[in-house]
Amino acid sequence: MKSSLTYDQLKSAASEYGTPLYVYHAEKIVSQYQNLLSHFSVANTRFFYACKALTNIHILDIVKRAGCNIDCSSINEAKLALHVGFEPQNILYTSNSVSFDEICEAIYLGIHVNIDSLSNLEKFGAKFGATYPIGVRVRPNIMAGGNLKISTGHDKSKFGIPVTQLDELKAIQKKYNINIATLHIHTGSEIKDVAVFIKSADVFDNLLEHFPTVNVLDFGGGFKVPYQPDEKGTDIPLLGAEVNKAIEYLSKKYGRKLTAWFEPGKYMVSESGYFIAQVNVLKKSGDIEFAGINTGLNHLIRPMFYDAYHHIDNISNPDGDKQPYAVVGNICETDTFAWDREIPAIKEGNFLVFYNAGAYGYEMSSNYNARYKPAQVLFENGVVKLISRRDTFEDLLLLQTPLNK
Ligand code: LLP
Repeated sequence: MKSSLTYDQLKSAASEYGTPLYVYHAEKIVSQYQNLLSHFSVANTRFFYACKALTNIHILDIVKRAGCNIDCSSINEAKLALHVGFEPQNILYTSNSVSFDEICEAIYLGIHVNIDSLSNLEKFGAKFGATYPIGVRVRPNIMAGGNLKISTGHDKSKFGIPVTQLDELKAIQKKYNINIATLHIHTGSEIKDVAVFIKSADVFDNLLEHFPTVNVLDFGGGFKVPYQPDEKGTDIPLLGAEVNKAIEYLSKKYGRKLTAWFEPGKYMVSESGYFIAQVNVLKKSGDIEFAGINTGLNHLIRPMFYDAYHHIDNISNPDGDKQPYAVVGNICETDTFAWDREIPAIKEGNFLVFYNAGAYGYEMSSNYNARYKPAQVLFENGVVKLISRRDTFEDLLLLQTPLNK
């Protein structure tokens, strides 16, 4: 697996900061963004990093310094973005099933807002009328994405306003003269097939004539990154070329200058992240060799929750002979990271590294079994620094009211 940090860098970070440990590489995030930029010239495309993937403020700061915009899925993410110094006009808030109060709060912050229900659109119209340009998220009824848990555009998905409710949507728009500036579609995560994004362009094509004030087409996120050693991600040059073509075509057809927006999460940070754990115990059971490590589903839940593959290397013995292992966690659950996985021979105390840990790794971690959340460190310009410390025992008690003894 291609790593943009060396084994020595990963090992020295693990020794210095202890394990389990999340390690990120700033330059990789910047190069991912620059790669996107270089392929979407014609459409004046704007990219909004979907920060739900990883919200540490040092990571957000790298994204901001790179010149990228930011997409938020909660009001607190938007507040983190403002805290880091993103300008409101560079912040997008794509809401789903949120209270109308939260939408109002976002509007008072002056950020772009995507509304995803007729109910909230009606409330928005009654309160703000035509005074604030707004985005509307539609559900295109397209099945896409790596698996059902991360598919969001199909006809049973909770996300967005179903395209079949176009008449109701238009009626609300008309009643309050709402200025709909953006149409939004996000069909899922890990979409390899460029044709899926072009299907969204076709859905926009059918909608544009009904919404003369729309000048932005937001295609959401979902670019696939390689998780397996020989896997291919979304073909970004092809996607860029196709989207450029679609935007040119639609701009001409509807006589408006349309712009494409995207909200990549995984693409921006997945490959920049490494999760390092240490082997506590080796246990043989028949043909199975368990490698029990000092972490579990509390720190990296993707393998258990989505059956996600994360490549594992033994950085303490990278050139050792490969053997099959079951890599398991230390949580009181069946938290199997990998089954029958070929890994260079493992000894107790070795450091194992999980790749693609930047997106939805730390961000989905918890204190389950009253264990500490790991520390996070960042390599930038070859220098490593701590960007969030490991929990302490006091942290476990911090939010709990003391016992009255
Ligand atoms: N935009 C919207 C509206 C989204 O809901 C999402 C992801 C994104 C953008 C970014 O998608 P990405 O580029 O990261 O695929 N925890 C799951 C992924 C959940 C994605 C949720 N929404 C995982 O670890 O696979």
